[in-house]
Amino acid sequence: MKNRDITLHINGEECRLNVAVNRTLLEVLRDQLGMTETKYGCGTGECGACTVLLEDGKAINSCLTLAATMDGKRITTAAGLSDFGRVNHIQQAFIDEAAIQCGYCTPGMVLKTASLLATNRDPSDEEIRHALEGNICRCTGYEKIVKAVRKAARTMPAPAACGAETCTEVAQ
Ligand code: FES
Ligand code: FES
Repeated sequence: MKNRDITLHINGEECRLNVAVNRTLLEVLRDQLGMTETKYGCGTGECGACTVLLEDGKAINSCLTLAATMDGKRITTAAGLSDFGRVNHIQQAFIDEAAIQCGYCTPGMVLKTASLLATNRDPSDEEIRHALEGNICRCTGYEKIVKAVRKAARTMPAPAACGAETCTEVAQ
């Protein structure tokens, strides 16, 4: 099997890798980089456990994505949402609303929520359910997850003048 050198920018860090061309992004994240916050569920695009974000905020299933096709891309995993080890407002909302039981679906749910809120700061329940329909949770019954997404929308930081989600300094 052929290999290829690629560079991924994961959670702000540059990663140079040599990957087999048939390896999925999920396999590379978990097995080569040890980023086990990205979960293996079905491996066939049905459960959303393996969700990651691309730089445009689009959520993708990493189990269906060949790593070699991601050369040069910026990727965010659930660990990348944390701010220097502190949970962000979406993760906090899931904690506050008890929307986590076993937690296996949670990284994917949180990232899908981030993708939704990037384009819709005030989603209706219907829009939330539609956005999360590719993510399966075997534990919570979904109602608490929908409440958590509503809370995440309410507690979302206002856009900063510099265009970042938060910033402490605007260039003169
Ligand atoms: S593991 Fe990728 S969608 Fe289930
Ligand atoms: S909390 Fe267990 S699968 Fe969702």
